[in-house]
Amino acid sequence: MAKPEISASGHSIFIFQLQLYKPVIIKVFEAIICSVLLSPYNFYHRLVERARRGAQQGLCQMVYLPFIVKVISVISSLARCLMKIAVFTDLHSISPQERLTGQREKRSFFADSWPSFRNLNGLLQQEAPDLAICLGDMVDWYSDENRDFALELLNQLPCPWLAVPGNHDYESYAYETDRVRSISAVEGYEAAVKGWKERGIELHNRYLDLGHTGLVLLDSARSGVPEGTKEWLGELKNRHSRQLLFTHVPLDVPETREYILSVDSKRNLNKYVQSHSPWLFQDGLQEEMNHIFTGHLHFPGDLQVSDTVRMHMLGMAITDLRRPERPASACIIELEHDAIEIRRISL
Ligand SMILES: [Fe+2]
Repeated sequence: MAKPEISASGHSIFIFQLQLYKPVIIKVFEAIICSVLLSPYNFYHRLVERARRGAQQGLCQMVYLPFIVKVISVISSLARCLMKIAVFTDLHSISPQERLTGQREKRSFFADSWPSFRNLNGLLQQEAPDLAICLGDMVDWYSDENRDFALELLNQLPCPWLAVPGNHDYESYAYETDRVRSISAVEGYEAAVKGWKERGIELHNRYLDLGHTGLVLLDSARSGVPEGTKEWLGELKNRHSRQLLFTHVPLDVPETREYILSVDSKRNLNKYVQSHSPWLFQDGLQEEMNHIFTGHLHFPGDLQVSDTVRMHMLGMAITDLRRPERPASACIIELEHDAIEIRRISL
């Protein structure tokens, strides 16, 4: 079942009232924020540090992070009229400690590519985003070792981060007497969700209210959305004039099907679009979302799918060693009060 949103409040009204006194307020806040941010033990870093400590205690994403994102959003919107979000996808981390050594060997093109994510993180440090969102496939298959290795990489990001699940985050392997059996995302869902939660990582549907923008984080890891999502999306209608959607699998619309096959005619579209939720765009998102960000394909794309909706498909956040021509990349979103800028960065 889809769970309710993380946060919603009268924050947008508060911001609107402040607009009347904006020139004076901005000057005052700029002075305060600059002096706070320049201090070596500043408020912002204390918040981020607290989130990291929370993560170690398994509390970060459940308790601290929504609060921290909200505080950063308020500070950013007042002081700079801007919030910067980094989006990336498909790390496919495999731990050096992973017990399935044969499988690790077979997937060495991903297992040995983690340094490229570290290099991409160097570019993200320069961008100094306020928030990062991973669009799934943090691991190549779920195991406690792979999970902890992925978290070690992700916790080096320069800001708080959130994730939506990818199919690989739920897939795993089972040891049986004479063989190792692969477990699908559908079969492995419950055990994997429990494992991620042990480290404080929430992967269910969520809504983040930034005051000026709504962020929808949607679980599509099983090539469709969880039961109850349609009703949940219905409750979000008209919440904000600007809403962004983040999910792993591209939406099932003719434009994405055509685009995917134009790049790779062998792709199984049952798996590479949300074929289990064909209603999602028309009945749930078309009127509500301005920008949709997806992963899963391992190649990038940019499509206008209606007059008001743009689909941003991201390539991997690592350089697949079989495909050096597609280096690790990410997307930077800069939110201003009346505008949004989206650009790609890559190694
Ligand atoms: Fe992937």
